Amino acid sequence: MKTQIFTRNDIREAAKLIQQWEVVAFPTETVYGLGASALDTDAAKKIYEAKWRPSDNPLIVHVHNLKQLREVAYIDPEKEDDIKKLAQTFWPGALTIVLPKKPCIPDTVSGGLDTVAVRIPNHQSTLKLIRSAGVPIAGPSANISGKPSSTRFSHVFEDFDGKISGVIRSRSCKVGIESSVIDMSQDTPVLLRPGWVSFEALQAVLPDISLKYTGDTTIAKSPGMKYKHYSPEAQVILFEENTISQILEYQKKYLKQGKKVQVLYPEKIQNFWKDLFHILRQSDKKWYDILLIAAVSETGDGYAIMNRLRKAASEIIS
Ligand code: TXA
Ligand code: MG
Repeated sequence: MKTQIFTRNDIREAAKLIQQWEVVAFPTETVYGLGASALDTDAAKKIYEAKWRPSDNPLIVHVHNLKQLREVAYIDPEKEDDIKKLAQTFWPGALTIVLPKKPCIPDTVSGGLDTVAVRIPNHQSTLKLIRSAGVPIAGPSANISGKPSSTRFSHVFEDFDGKISGVIRSRSCKVGIESSVIDMSQDTPVLLRPGWVSFEALQAVLPDISLKYTGDTTIAKSPGMKYKHYSPEAQVILFEENTISQILEYQKKYLKQGKKVQVLYPEKIQNFWKDLFHILRQSDKKWYDILLIAAVSETGDGYAIMNRLRKAASEIIS
């Protein structure tokens, strides 16, 4: 299939493809998404096929305002104040809220769950796309399953040229790391996936939020968390203790074996989060065998970064 390339000047053309149940990749402030109508089973199936994504891993539904959110999800009156506070503080932006789903969202989109994950992205072209299409847009990150997310048009094109109907070309994503996913469908709020909005920022709005994403119960709740993720071809070794001498020792050992080794100290790279997925993707292009990465401290955005690095790692040295 020919993949059409759109710019912000021809969003309406891209929206027409969405209305025809086709898949169009779109930019957001976090990472690129692989979009299709969230109201149609066959459209959603095309996303899973293009990504090689397991069908029990649900998709985020992107809406352009709160009215559209109410078309896809129920808001429990007891939680309305909290949800409004979250929306006012973080939307449009990098927060995804899990709520009980309405029947218009097919099981294919929710992965068989009775909830739906919803987000209003902070990207003008994509808000326009959702408005013009007239339907909410289901969209996981635009990468082949298990590979690093796409934060540049070139990443999306590499993974999906010829496999989807269109891509909206835009600048590289400002944030570069995915949204935080918070479950508001249970008695108390739970952070299911750490992301760009920090746990501390969420706690300032919802003091009773808990952080159980590593626990077994949450693994079942947020199916995506159980799969291997963000992995380049190279073997990624993460050093939790961040000791330079230890990293240098490993580097020496692998160099002696004739391996091509890249060493990364994220704290020395400006705005590391913005380029994290690009760096992982580049390591394949440069044919690295081994990536040795030092840990970052787990506060603020460091928390989400460590989550992604642990998932990319095939070995963690602690
Ligand atoms: O920033 C982002 O969130 C990007 C952009 C495109 O919006 N999207 C993204 O989607 O990262 P994806 O599919 O790669 O990750 C969505 C995560 C997965 O871990 C999935 O399991 C979880 O959200 N999720 C989706 N629906 C859920 C639900 N109903 N209940 C619990 N977790 C859900
Ligand atoms: Mg993803």
